[in-house]
Amino acid sequence: MAKSRTQFICQACGNVSSRWAGKCEACGEWNTLVEEGTAGGIGSGPGALKSSRKARAVALTSLDGDIEDAPRIASGIGELDRATGGGFVRGSALLVGGDPGIGKSTLLTQAAAALARQGHRIVYVSGEEAVAQIRLRAQRLGAAASPVELAAETNVEDILATIGEGRRPDLVILDSIQTLWTDLADSAPGTVTQVRAAAQAMIRYAKSTGAAVVLVGHVTKEGQIAGPRVVEHMVDGVLYFEGEGGHHYRILRTVKNRFGPTDEIGVFEMSDKGLREVANPSELFLGERHAKAPGAAVFAGMEGTRPVLVEIQALVAPSPLGTPRRAVVGWDSARLAMILAVLEAHCGVRFSQHDVYLNVAGGYRISEPAADLAVAAALVSSLTGLALPADCVYFGEISLSGAVRPVAHAQQRLKEAEKLGFGSAVLPVGSAKGGEEIAGGIGAGAFRPTELADLVARIAGSRRSRDTGDD
Ligand code: TYD
Ligand code: MG
Repeated sequence: MAKSRTQFICQACGNVSSRWAGKCEACGEWNTLVEEGTAGGIGSGPGALKSSRKARAVALTSLDGDIEDAPRIASGIGELDRATGGGFVRGSALLVGGDPGIGKSTLLTQAAAALARQGHRIVYVSGEEAVAQIRLRAQRLGAAASPVELAAETNVEDILATIGEGRRPDLVILDSIQTLWTDLADSAPGTVTQVRAAAQAMIRYAKSTGAAVVLVGHVTKEGQIAGPRVVEHMVDGVLYFEGEGGHHYRILRTVKNRFGPTDEIGVFEMSDKGLREVANPSELFLGERHAKAPGAAVFAGMEGTRPVLVEIQALVAPSPLGTPRRAVVGWDSARLAMILAVLEAHCGVRFSQHDVYLNVAGGYRISEPAADLAVAAALVSSLTGLALPADCVYFGEISLSGAVRPVAHAQQRLKEAEKLGFGSAVLPVGSAKGGEEIAGGIGAGAFRPTELADLVARIAGSRRSRDTGDD
């Protein structure tokens, strides 16, 4: 028997240390180190399991061979299939993470029901809710009649024995990974050791049988329960389900995908009958737009292969503080600092006496640098009190020198804007290779600044034309 020894594992990042400390030395989180036993568990060294099993030779095979089934099973829920890259992949493990209550169980219940109706064998194992609760949800979703096989169980060995009976399931959903525990590890359910060991057992099951496995993982802010991050590297795909409290829509974002693109999103709306697909997200994000106010600019963005229009709102107000506030929701705060610096250094616009608040409407999150131009326009508009034209979209990257740089997919961005009734655009010179491609439509009359200062001058110039105009 291997000697039993204790070690301290950070529940946020999984770092192992031999001594307890208030702060994890790897990730810097506080109070996340938890004592876990090592005997027989993961990290206990190669000697620990020696006595329990004998090594066996595996049959080696060739790359070229028969694949019996279609490699993917598509749920028919378009937005989910888009995020997974065309459906669940057989023999793979997918992690669906998200905050508690965001709708993970709802989404997977709907997917399970849809697949079961197509004749696939779907097993849904819940470690969080009792069977009655799951039935209640299924009734609400109108999915109660579909032949999903349901169990409330948390032990991995029992689950494997259960699904090993009868026809191999096409999809096994485990809700959630934090509730699972395996006999092989002796720490408490929800700790890094248990979560990893349980995930590993289920991934091994997926690879060896060809069933698709979906693991649900709660994102945890306090470190007492291991988060989905500790299994991210083990699974084939990672989807995060996100949303803002107070908004009804939810975004399924692909973070990792060994079998497809990683920049796709699926958009849903939570209703009283479960999640509804939103095929055109731009309409949703622009839905509550108040066009006449200063400080709002519409950004024509891209999410994977799909253009998405969102409103960027800025509020610039005189600050009573010595160090003015900068607050950002839905965008990178370092990027905002950069845009402010470029506006100050190259365009003569001063923000040092002003608080700056930036918000991406609808709780949406932007990661593209192409939003720079829209952010700058919104900031200048709020500072000057001059509303931007309501029918104009903005995109383009801003460099530290103050130059406006071209971004990809100009054509698609403009097409989407046109489709939604926008009549003008501000975009970089040199987008869409020379400009002949965007000769028609709103691209033709677009304003194309080479420097950010040109755009600032144009916005400031709108005051003059307004003052001398008829109204
Ligand atoms: P759930 O799927 O249980 O979240 P998770 O598994 O991610 O923890 O969803 C919980 C929330 O969704 C809950 O606040 C109620 C809401 N909801 C609806 O609004 N409509 C519905 O039809 C369902 C089933 C849930
Ligand atoms: Mg749940």
